[in-house]
This record gives sequence, structure tokens and C-alpha cells, in this order.
Amino acid sequence: MIYALTAVVLALPLTASAFHQDDTLRRRHANVAHKPAFMRRAANYTIKDHFVGEDFLQWTFFNSPDPTGGLVNYVDQQTAVQNGLATVDCNNVTTLAVDVNQTVASGGNRNSVRISSPETYSSGLFIADFAKMPTGCGTWPAYWTVSATATWPDGGEIDIIEGVNTNTQNQITLHSGADCTLNNTVNTTSHLLGTECASSAGNDAGCAWQQASATTFGAGFNSAGGGVYAHLWNSDGITVWNFARDAIPSDITNQTPDPSSWGVAAAVFPSAGCDISSHFYDHTIVLDTTLCGDWAGPAYASSGCPGTCQDAVANATNFVDAQWKINYITVYQ
Ligand SMILES: *[C@@H]1O[C@H](CO)[C@@H](O)[C@H](O)[C@H]1NC(C)=O
Ligand SMILES: *[C@@H]1O[C@H](CO)[C@@H](O)[C@H](O)[C@H]1NC(C)=O
Ligand SMILES: *[C@@H]1O[C@H](CO)[C@@H](O)[C@H](O)[C@H]1NC(C)=O
Ligand SMILES: *[C@@H]1O[C@H](CO)[C@@H](O)[C@H](O)[C@H]1NC(C)=O
Ligand SMILES: *[C@@H]1O[C@H](CO)[C@@H](O)[C@H](O)[C@H]1NC(C)=O
Ligand SMILES: *[C@@H]1O[C@H](CO)[C@@H](O)[C@H](O)[C@H]1NC(C)=O
Repeated sequence: MIYALTAVVLALPLTASAFHQDDTLRRRHANVAHKPAFMRRAANYTIKDHFVGEDFLQWTFFNSPDPTGGLVNYVDQQTAVQNGLATVDCNNVTTLAVDVNQTVASGGNRNSVRISSPETYSSGLFIADFAKMPTGCGTWPAYWTVSATATWPDGGEIDIIEGVNTNTQNQITLHSGADCTLNNTVNTTSHLLGTECASSAGNDAGCAWQQASATTFGAGFNSAGGGVYAHLWNSDGITVWNFARDAIPSDITNQTPDPSSWGVAAAVFPSAGCDISSHFYDHTIVLDTTLCGDWAGPAYASSGCPGTCQDAVANATNFVDAQWKINYITVYQ
């Protein structure tokens, strides 16, 4: 598939011979397979796209009904800016907020924002720095990527940050077309939740890891000052790391990222159980906050939230902390 040719970790020329060189390298290292492939490769990443500040206001504002059944109206760019739901401060921090000014009846929808990147990607090293993420009863925020050219689940979905309500442990999930499983042979810092990545409308748990630390999502993440989520996506697999604010490696800060130095990852989806290149391609990067819907709704009571999720949406006070504060997202290839 053409997408595989964009794997650039080896900085190979994008010619038909790239496959052969890649295979040769893999065979040559077959006897040192105790380390994931990414750790055997020299780091040499260059910035493909760097999104900061006003850049996010140029992303695509999705304003159709929420496909996950959430009690939100995703507003267009102009409405988001006019109503203060998408703002940039003097430090170039971008805020994406759930509306706290509207009067909404119980069962009604509250304004929110869902944006996606103008570029699509079939591989890369993605580094996202958030000062804050949405939290609170009724919320279901996500930082994820999804195919812009295939019909879900074909083309795949990578959920890097996702959870609901009062969760403080992040969940990292892949959804894919048929024949893709998580081969759980590489050590991570997370708990395995499921190994079947193939998803359908009625069976969409995906293959997933839940992070062990309670500072990886929601209020826990925010109280630690936020941090960085980095994920490396290439034909060897998809690997996700998470660094708290006070533990961000200097190679990330100085824009010479070297994943081989980052230690045990939060999630690893090796290509051993899933041909990553043919299952995941042409992804846009998406940030959104929905309310209730297919996940935060059913999980509302068990999250320890009071009353009903519909009533929570009607009370604007519940959403003062339902905000993404984005420092930047950088894509390296
Ligand atoms: C990184 O890749 C570029 C482009 O292929 C090459 O010119 C450069 O020498 C490489 N740097 C290192 C340190 O390998
Ligand atoms: C703020 O972000 C814009 C891009 O949106 C960039 O051109 C500008 O240099 C940034 N300013 C600072 C102070 O970082
Ligand atoms: C609420 O309204 C105020 C005043 O118009 C505005 O500054 C703010 O951005 C709005 N915020 C949200 C999250 O709705
Ligand atoms: C797995 O990683 C943990 C740290 O998260 C470490 O303590 C443990 O020794 C590792 N296990 C193996 C088999 O590498
Ligand atoms: C999982 O990966 C290991 C190591 O690459 C391999 O030996 C094993 O056969 C794989 N299992 C499955 C089910 O793909
Ligand atoms: C709205 O929610 C806040 C907490 O977020 C709560 O203190 C307040 O009582 C709620 N108001 C109503 C009318 O339910």
C-alpha cells in the first residue's frame, strides 16, 4: 500500500526499493528482537507541521450532530470564536471550551468544539503538549486521530487521550477494520484492557491500555500541570508515551526528539498482531469535548456523578473546567 512508503524513520528515499531496504534491515536485526524495532533505529526527525496559538483556529470546525450521541452542538469556527469557545491568550495557549454561558434545558445540547487538522498523516512522531484538559461530570474529551478517506473503522482510529466524567486514568485505544489484534508482548506502564482492535458500530471497545497513574487524565493530569503525550506511528507499530509537566525529556523541549531514550511506554501496539500500515492511514488529528453520549452517559453514575447526565448538561457551572489548553502539537517525520 502506498501509505507504507511514508514511513520515514530510516530517512529512506520514497522509492519502490524502500520496502526491500526495510525488509533487509528487519532480517538483519531479527536476532536482537528483544527490543522493539523503534529502539534499534537512529533518531532523525524533522518537523513536518508545528501547530500553536492561532493555528488551531484554522483547523476544520466540525459542526454536524455528534456521531457519538453527545448532548452537544458542535459550533462552526465563527461561532466558536465569537462565543469565546476557541481563544488564544497572550502566551499563545489555545483554549477550546464548552459553553458556560448558555441556558440549556435538561436533555438539551450545550455548545462545544470539535476541530481537526488540515493535514492528514499515515505515519509520524506526534508530540502534543497540553497545559490542561477538560474534566468533570458529563464530559468526554478526546485527543485522537482518524482516517479522513476511509469509512470507519477502515483506515483506523487512534485514541491517544480519552476518558469520561471524573476519570483520572487515561485510556489509549485503537479501532480498526478486520484482522488487527494487539500482540501484548512489549512491556508498558499500563493495564491491558482488550486485544481486539477490529471494531464495528455494535462492538467498538477496540484494543486498549489504561494508564496506571492517576495523573494521566482529567483533574489528575491538570493538577500535575498537564504534560506531553507523544506517539510514534510507523510500519513497526504505534507506541505512546506520556510525560508529566516536570518530567518532559529535554529532547522534546528542544525539538530533537529521540523516542529510543524515553523508556517504558504507556502503550505499545506492535505490528506483530496488526499490519499497521494497511489498517491506519490518512488520519486527521482531532480534539473535541462531547457531553454524555455513548460513553460518558452510561458511565455517569458509576463515575460517582450526582443526578443524571442530562441534568448535568443543563447546569453550566459543571463545565467551567471542561477546557483544553493546548501549548502545541508538533508532527515530525
Ligand atoms: C537526517 O536526515 C537528513 C535527510 O535524510 C540527512 O541529511 C541528515 O544527515 C540526517 N542526520 C543524521 C544525524 O543522521
Ligand atoms: C504564536 O503562534 C503563532 C502561530 O499561530 C506564531 O507565528 C508566533 O510566532 C507565536 N508567538 C510566540 C510568541 O510564540
Ligand atoms: C462566556 O461569556 C463571556 C462573556 O461574553 C466570554 O468572555 C467567555 O469567553 C464565555 N465563555 C464560555 C466558556 O462560554
Ligand atoms: C516493565 O516496566 C516496569 C516499569 O514500568 C519495570 O518495573 C519492569 O521491570 C519491566 N519489566 C520487564 C520485564 O521489562
Ligand atoms: C506476538 O509477537 C511475538 C513476537 O513478535 C510472536 O512470537 C508471536 O507469534 C505473536 N503472536 C501473535 C498472536 O501474533
Ligand atoms: C450546578 O452544579 C453545581 C456544581 O457543579 C452545584 O453546586 C449546583 O448546586 C448545581 N445547580 C443546580 C441548580 O443543580
